[in-house]
Amino acid sequence: MAKLKINEYHKKGKIEPEVYGHFSEHLGRCIYEGIYVGEDSDIPNVNGMRVDVVEALKELKVPVLRWPGGCFADEYHWKDGIGPKENRKKIINTHWGGVVEDNSFGTHEFMELCRQLGCKTYVNGNLGSGTVQEMSEWVEYMTFDGVSPMAELRKQNGREEPWKVDFFGVGNENWGCGGNMTPEHYANEYRRYQTYVRDYSIKPEEDDEDSDDKKKKKKKDEEEKKSIRKVCCGANVDDYHWTKGVLKTAFDHTEKKFHGFMDYLSLHYYVHPEGWEIKGSATKFDDKVWYKTLKKALKMDKLIQRHSAIMDQYDPKKKIGLCVDEWGAWYKNEPGTNPGFLYQQNTVRDALIAGITLNIFNKHCDRVKIAALAQMVNVLQAVLLTEGDQMIKTPTYHVMHMYRHHQGAQLLESSASDVETVGIGKWQVPKITESVSLGEDGMITVTLNNLSIESEETVEIALADKGYQVKEARIVTADDMHAMNTFDQPETVTEKDFSDYQTGEEGITLTMPKNSVIELRLAK
Ligand code: AHR
Repeated sequence: MAKLKINEYHKKGKIEPEVYGHFSEHLGRCIYEGIYVGEDSDIPNVNGMRVDVVEALKELKVPVLRWPGGCFADEYHWKDGIGPKENRKKIINTHWGGVVEDNSFGTHEFMELCRQLGCKTYVNGNLGSGTVQEMSEWVEYMTFDGVSPMAELRKQNGREEPWKVDFFGVGNENWGCGGNMTPEHYANEYRRYQTYVRDYSIKPEEDDEDSDDKKKKKKKDEEEKKSIRKVCCGANVDDYHWTKGVLKTAFDHTEKKFHGFMDYLSLHYYVHPEGWEIKGSATKFDDKVWYKTLKKALKMDKLIQRHSAIMDQYDPKKKIGLCVDEWGAWYKNEPGTNPGFLYQQNTVRDALIAGITLNIFNKHCDRVKIAALAQMVNVLQAVLLTEGDQMIKTPTYHVMHMYRHHQGAQLLESSASDVETVGIGKWQVPKITESVSLGEDGMITVTLNNLSIESEETVEIALADKGYQVKEARIVTADDMHAMNTFDQPETVTEKDFSDYQTGEEGITLTMPKNSVIELRLAK
């Protein structure tokens, strides 16, 4: 029997809502078909956005959405995607399937999507093949509230008010598809490009009569209100050389300021069960590959620790957030689909990958401030899949839905003991992973994963105080580890009520079925 000890009096920091973010790229059927069908479509839509998809995403409380890529971002020229649609340039999406990109989804449409979702905006700029001027003008177009050529252009295109750009990525994967740069070269480019990513937000006026405290508060508020937070391109997986090189060059001879220079450093990590070349099937895998996959998902913990340790040398107070803006499983595309579209199915195994990864992010809330699951619809570990006018929710969707209660909550001290190790050969994993948080509503959220495909596990939960009751308990599981939702059978793996727990003198005891992700909501 495993034991979970929770100290509800020890809050370890805020789990930023943006850690539960998403990513939508001009790739395959993510944007087109998956999200945007155009106003003339027979598929019910509001301003071109699918109603079914937006409604499902709203239930996840999507906190932030990253766009337009990915590799696409470093080839995207934003002026192609504004103005009357019939005049928009048609280009080839060279990265993803060589298909025609008609640019009917551009800046205005992205902002409209975020409005409908009620989420923050994360725009990724083009450093790889775009100019400094182009990047600078895009920011001006989106955010400047005054008289300027780009603000005028925006108004001509029907948008009077500026939008809020919450996060801005200065390039993407510039060690690879974003220009094949060395860390030093990228860092120098970062320094230059980010200079012209202007912050046009309105600053509160300072009053000479203000006391020092008031001034301090105003300064802090001003920081908070900054409309743009900059994301510097970080490493791929365990490329610590990149992290060291970028930070060294970026901070060489610069004043060590963070906000306004570098607010986040990104990290990309995909789980390929059979390595990058082979990848492995999304739906056909044996017991060994199950454990191999989960072991690879668990690697996220080490990656965060080691990149964060390098960041500590420049930023010991952890002012720069780690932004894991691409994570998830990347399998071989579904048979019969365009390999360039990265369309894959999603099974109970993906539910576990999501549960494990999100628990890791929660536990590292001191450093991980943003993350984005790749990708939102129809691409990689998507939460939704569509086919024509049909839409299904994947097992990953249901896990993200249960875990939404962690958004903005305080991480609580928790540790699991007497946890068995399970696996095959060298692919050994802990049977149970967990994280615990306290929400503003006073409810404690416990999320637990049973990684075993062989056996259930009893978990005894003890809090510092007695008297906690389970107010709500939910589970995502299926007896068959290959179980998935299809368009014919969309409800095979869903979130269900869970009742296999008892509350006793010493705490709460639950029995977790094999391959399961569970959420408990506790209160006195
Ligand atoms: O998410 C698919 C691709 O993976 C992205 O475009 C790129 O940034 C990464 O290599």
